[in-house]
Amino acid sequence: MKLEVVILAAGQGTRMRSALPKVLHPLAGKPLVHHVIDTASALNAAAIHTVIGHGAEQVQKQLQQLPTRWVMQEKQLGTGHAVAQATPAVNDDSIVLVLYGDVPLAQTDTLQKLLSLVNEEQIAVLTVDLPDPTGYGRMLRDDANSIVAIVEQKDANAEQLKIREVNTGILAAPAKLLKQWLPQLSANNAQGEYYLTDIIGLAVSNGIKVAAHQPQSHWEVQGVNNRLQLSELERHFQRSVAEKLMTDGVTLADPARIDVRGTLTTGRDIFIDVNCVFEGNVELGDNVRIGPNCVIKNAKIAANVDIESHSLIDDAIVGVAAHIGPFARLRPGTELAANAKVGNFVETKKTYIGAGSKVNHLTYVGDCTIGVNANIGAGTITCNYDGVNKFKTVIGDGAFIGSNSSLVAPVSIGKNATVGAGSTITGNVGEEQLGVARGKQRNIDGWKRPTKKS
Ligand code: UD1
Ligand code: CA
Repeated sequence: MKLEVVILAAGQGTRMRSALPKVLHPLAGKPLVHHVIDTASALNAAAIHTVIGHGAEQVQKQLQQLPTRWVMQEKQLGTGHAVAQATPAVNDDSIVLVLYGDVPLAQTDTLQKLLSLVNEEQIAVLTVDLPDPTGYGRMLRDDANSIVAIVEQKDANAEQLKIREVNTGILAAPAKLLKQWLPQLSANNAQGEYYLTDIIGLAVSNGIKVAAHQPQSHWEVQGVNNRLQLSELERHFQRSVAEKLMTDGVTLADPARIDVRGTLTTGRDIFIDVNCVFEGNVELGDNVRIGPNCVIKNAKIAANVDIESHSLIDDAIVGVAAHIGPFARLRPGTELAANAKVGNFVETKKTYIGAGSKVNHLTYVGDCTIGVNANIGAGTITCNYDGVNKFKTVIGDGAFIGSNSSLVAPVSIGKNATVGAGSTITGNVGEEQLGVARGKQRNIDGWKRPTKKS
């Protein structure tokens, strides 16, 4: 039977106290509901139906590229009502898996196990035993230990409230049965809502068995209702990423002080110091060393690269044994060849820096190509922008740019050319030439500085 996933994400999330719909709050840099849609995709769902209501427009707009059908639930009349908005489009022959948009960490193997329990005569509920079950629906079992119903906290009696096995909300059932039961739900309960959980009682009275499965860890079914829970899930997630990195051969100065918001691919014998953040797709080669407080986003860093503290790298490619930082900023379109050096307070953008070339201090290079073994002196600026257009600067192999030079683009500096310190270069400098463009020094004898009148 085909699998179709229904994700419930229409609730308001009042306790987040936020203008942002709850399911758009990020965990590891990705909206909560995006995690859930990814999980559904990983299960090879034939269709994913995401039920939205509060902030629907915003959710849909931000996540429009995701492989889901959006279903509107105008009024949040309960979880049963929410599922019923999606089921008309569900194929009768499918199995339906219900997930929550605010429960981001359910694992595919757990859900696969749950789904394996479903057939024409049996539905399955994911349950968990909690030391403190307050707030959750309780699983009612008969003398033979079979599940017979779920009773919500607000509808439960004192005896039922003692039950520690709770409903995670995640369940799976044949679409044909769900479609039979959903119209039979009533809102005749403490919250005046159409409870999805009432299908359990209907199943039992129809002679359909209810199986239960429990996840490996309670984190998998932990929901996000407030920012404290969000931070707990974030830390749990980051801890597991850190453990995986260490298992893969990366040394972390402190596994509690690294955040990965995306995919970090690593070689061996990498060292990462404290407080580094990785975003998007980042690849690190063997023996890369990263100092404290670096932010690295969408970058490919080759083997033996040394990145010193407080460096920012965004959308860049870094060649073997290059040296970056401290306090360097590589902006999008930067490429460093092998052994290139970008030092402190240097900003690069759309720039290629050839093998062995050095841009060591206090420099801006943008829209620039630098050959091999060139030396760019401190305070060099490529003037690449006239307020409207951007222009290119080309610097040849072995060129030497004296300190505090302005290279007014478009301009090219030839192979092995030299630019005198303090020059404002507006015309090309040829191969092996010296370009100097600055006021000539005059020394005036006996110069008297102004004095203050008393
Ligand atoms: C639900 C379960 C409860 C379970 C708990 C686990 C029911 C009746 N109760 O309770 O047994 O222990 O989850 O967390 O199902 N939603 C909609 N539309 C609605 C109502 C809810 O999309 O009309 C969404 C919410 O956004 C949320 C999810 O469904 O993501 C669960 O809703 P919530 O109100 O939090 O359910 P609980 O009362 O916690
Ligand atoms: Ca809830």
